[in-house]
Amino acid sequence: MARRVLLLCFCLCYGCTGGQGPARQSRPWERREAAPSSALLGDEHYERLQSHLGAVRALSRRYWHLVACKVWQEDCEEKEEEEEKEAAAAAAEEAGGGGQVVLERRGWSLPIMSEIVSSWYCSFGRCCATGDCRVTNNITGLELDLSSRLHGQHLAKDVVLKAIQGFLETPQPEKALSLSFHGWSGTGKNFVARLIAEHLYRDGLKSDCAKVFISLFHFPHSKYVDIYKVQLAKQISETVQLCEQSLFIFDEAEKLHVDLLDALKPYVDHYDSIDTVDYRRSIFLFLSNTGGNIINEVALDFWQAGRSREEITMEYLEKHLRTELLEGTAEGYARNHLLEDNLIDFLVPFLPLEYRHVKLCARDAFLARGLPFTEEALDEVARMMVFVPKEEKLFSAQGCKSVSQRINYFLP
Ligand SMILES: *[C@@H]1O[C@H](CO)[C@@H](O)[C@H](O)[C@H]1NC(C)=O
Repeated sequence: MARRVLLLCFCLCYGCTGGQGPARQSRPWERREAAPSSALLGDEHYERLQSHLGAVRALSRRYWHLVACKVWQEDCEEKEEEEEKEAAAAAAEEAGGGGQVVLERRGWSLPIMSEIVSSWYCSFGRCCATGDCRVTNNITGLELDLSSRLHGQHLAKDVVLKAIQGFLETPQPEKALSLSFHGWSGTGKNFVARLIAEHLYRDGLKSDCAKVFISLFHFPHSKYVDIYKVQLAKQISETVQLCEQSLFIFDEAEKLHVDLLDALKPYVDHYDSIDTVDYRRSIFLFLSNTGGNIINEVALDFWQAGRSREEITMEYLEKHLRTELLEGTAEGYARNHLLEDNLIDFLVPFLPLEYRHVKLCARDAFLARGLPFTEEALDEVARMMVFVPKEEKLFSAQGCKSVSQRINYFLP
C-alpha cells in the first residue's frame, strides 16, 4: 500500500521534471523544495496550473480505479481511494510549473514512474538482487486454478496451460511467447491474465516484472502516438533488463494504434535483435473482444445441433476465428496486423458463458468472501444477468462480469 502511494508521488514528480530528476538517489519527499512555488508564477499561469492539477488528480483516481478494480479485481475499498486522493494532492503540489508536460504525458506517468521506483527499490536489494524478481513459475498452481476457478473455458484452459508450460520448460526459446485472448467481455480474459501473473510471480500483477497496458488509458490520443511508441519501447526494454522473465499484458488490444503494434514487433519477433538485451524470455498477452461474435456463433451452432460445448475443438474454432480476424470487418484491423505477421503464437478463444457458469462464478464469489450461500441465492444472482440471443436466452451478455459485486444484495 505504502509503496503504491510512493509510486504515485514519484510518477507525477517525474512527469513534471521531464526525466531530469535524480531518481535513484533522491526520495520523493526530498524533492519538494525543488518544485517552483506558485508565487513565482503570474495569476494567469497560476489559474492554468490549477486546472491542470485538477485534471491530474482526476486522472490518478481514474487510474487506480481501473487498475485496482478492473485488473486486480481487489483493493476496491473506499479507504484506498482516500489514500490515493491524498497522494495525488501531495504529488500535484510537487508538480509545480510543469503542468503541461504532466498533462501530455499523463497516460504514461505511472509506467515511467514505476520503473524508476523499481530501480530505487531494487537498489536496496529487496527484489532484484537475485535477478529473478521473485519469479515463482508455479505451473501446478496455475493448472489447479484454471481447473477450479475458470468456468466454461475448456479451450482457453488447455491452450494457456500448454503454451505457458511449454515456453517455461524450453531452455532457449526462439522468441518471446505471445498469446492473443479473444472473447466477449466477462468471459475470463482478464481473470486468466491475472492468474498467469499470480502463478508466475510471487507478487502477481504487482511484480515489477509484470506490466499492464490499457489502450485507451495509456495511449489515449492518437496524435501522441510517436511519444507513446518511444515510451513503450523504453518501458519494455527496461523491464526486460531488470527481469529475467517479463510479462506484458495489453488490455483492449483491439484499440492499440497500429504504429504501437509496429513498435512491439521487434520484441515479439524471431530474429530482430534490437540491442544486446534478450527479449525471448518474455510473455506478451493481448486481450481483446475482437472475434467474440464468431466464437459465440460457433458455440450457438453447437448448442442448436444438440452437441455439448466441450465437443468444440481448437482446430475447428481456430479455423473460424483466424479467418474472421484476418478477413473480417474493420473492427479487427489493428489485431490482424500482429496475426498477419505471424507474431501471435496461440489464439486463445473464450466461449460465451451460460447460466450454469454464471452460477459457478457466484459460488466462487461467496466462497472468496467466506460467506454462506444457498442454491437459491446463486440462482438469483444468475437471474440478474441479461441473457442473449433474444430467443434462446443462452449466453450471459456480460459473462461473469460484476457477479462478485452483485452478491452484495444477498448479504445479511
Ligand atoms: C503452487 O500453487 C499451489 C496452489 O496455489 C500451492 O498450493 C503451492 O504451494 C504452490 N507451490 C509453490 C512452490 O509455491
